[in-house]
Amino acid sequence: MRQAVSNLLTNALKYSPPEQKVLVRLAKLDGHFAISVQDFGIGIAPEDQHRLFEPFHRARNVGEVSGTGLGLSIARQAVEKHGGTITVQSEIGVGSIFTMMLSERPPEVEQDAQNTVD
Ligand SMILES: Nc1ncnc2c1ncn2[C@@H]1O[C@H](COP(=O)(O)OP(=O)(O)OP(=O)(O)O)[C@@H](O)[C@H]1O
Ligand SMILES: [Mg+2]
Repeated sequence: MRQAVSNLLTNALKYSPPEQKVLVRLAKLDGHFAISVQDFGIGIAPEDQHRLFEPFHRARNVGEVSGTGLGLSIARQAVEKHGGTITVQSEIGVGSIFTMMLSERPPEVEQDAQNTVD
């Protein structure tokens, strides 16, 4: 989860001008936590938005900004393992908001190898 939040912060900073602020909000709703990261940067075209969470997919407007296109796919996997969701709202040239919603009660941990050793 630390890696997921860290990637959202890194993205907000690297895809927006250095002088622009990045807003981080943490809210406790009814049984859920919401963490959102908002920037006022390059934004993401609608046709790219639904593919950002696929491994190696990068939007067409990244220009010279470097990246592997893996951060968001790892973030989504981590959030989903915690029973949560990650969504994006964005407009080209205006900015982006990424929101992670997590349940206050994490899902039951699956039986793993550790539990079967005795
Ligand atoms: N805040 C943002 N503003 C604009 N575009 C973004 C933003 N966050 C993500 N993107 C777009 O989504 C793509 C995927 O993001 P992701 O974090 O997976 O990869 P990356 O930042 O390019 O590389 P890395 O694997 O180093 O994180 C980015 O390449 C970029 O096109
Ligand atoms: Mg990234």
